[in-house]
Amino acid sequence: MNDGSTIASFADIHPDRESVLGQALAGLGATPKTLPSKFFYDERGSKLFERICEVPEYYVTRVETALLGDIAGQAAEMIGADACIIEYGTGSSEKIALLLAALDRPAAFVGVDISSVALRGVAETLAGNFPDLAVHAVCADFTQPFTLPAMSGQGRRVVFFPGSSLGNFNPEQSVDFIANAARLIGPGGGMLFGIDLKKDAAILDAAYDDAAGVTAEFNLNLLRRLNRECGADFDLDAFSHRAFYNANAGRVEMHLVSRRAQSITLGAQTITFAEGETIHTENSYKYSVPEFQDLARRAGCEPMRAWTDANSLFSLHYLSVI
Ligand code: AVJ
Repeated sequence: MNDGSTIASFADIHPDRESVLGQALAGLGATPKTLPSKFFYDERGSKLFERICEVPEYYVTRVETALLGDIAGQAAEMIGADACIIEYGTGSSEKIALLLAALDRPAAFVGVDISSVALRGVAETLAGNFPDLAVHAVCADFTQPFTLPAMSGQGRRVVFFPGSSLGNFNPEQSVDFIANAARLIGPGGGMLFGIDLKKDAAILDAAYDDAAGVTAEFNLNLLRRLNRECGADFDLDAFSHRAFYNANAGRVEMHLVSRRAQSITLGAQTITFAEGETIHTENSYKYSVPEFQDLARRAGCEPMRAWTDANSLFSLHYLSVI
């Protein structure tokens, strides 16, 4: 119980400047060059992502939210009463609020997100709207191990991972991630995943390269962040956004393309770019329903039920930890 507006706990193990710099240097020193997509989500990047969710081409959030609204009652029945829900990537409250509202007396909620400001906002909103729910927040890079806060609640532990964010991992990493989450919640636990479906390349290309240029801004924000936080000197006009569906690999790729030969400084290093050379900034893997179910089984989980929208754009999956 809380007083209806306060968070039960807030743990901050957010990556510091040194760790952002170190991981950026490692990625930019590799061939081909890469930067981790988790670094998109500084305060500005989180706001840009919220705007992406509203551009007409990016169907992902709208379709998932509508589908979740349709099936939340069915998912809640599988989850049962008194549940503890652990959400990975708590950047906005809309989806988790739909799930919590459908559940029978949810006991505890743990939101895990890399963006401190976004996470705190959601946690406070949920604490206000669900006065009987113990709301915990963990600001962390969830690709690294972290400990869960102590939770009240005798019901099932359920991991909620919406948004198709699992798609940022490759299939092997995804199996490891699901297996780790399964270990965290233990046998009998449940998982609700939002997974974007494979589809026509033209729909995907447009979704990741919207006409208003919001996704381009989001991609370039990675360089802006390195300039601000790590003292880099990227000229943002000297890079352009490129996104496309790589059907062979089953993923959308985002890159930043160097428009000319140039060099930049980051930390104590000078990094050179050829004209047309790219920094690979994100993968977003897409799966058919059976493909995702196969990943789940490889991670030691039993696919219990899958739901898709009427246009077969997006899927939600409920898994049980064996
Ligand atoms: C938040 C990782 C699910 O891959 O669709 C949106 C991020 N990148 N547009 C996705 C994103 C470009 C998004 N995820």
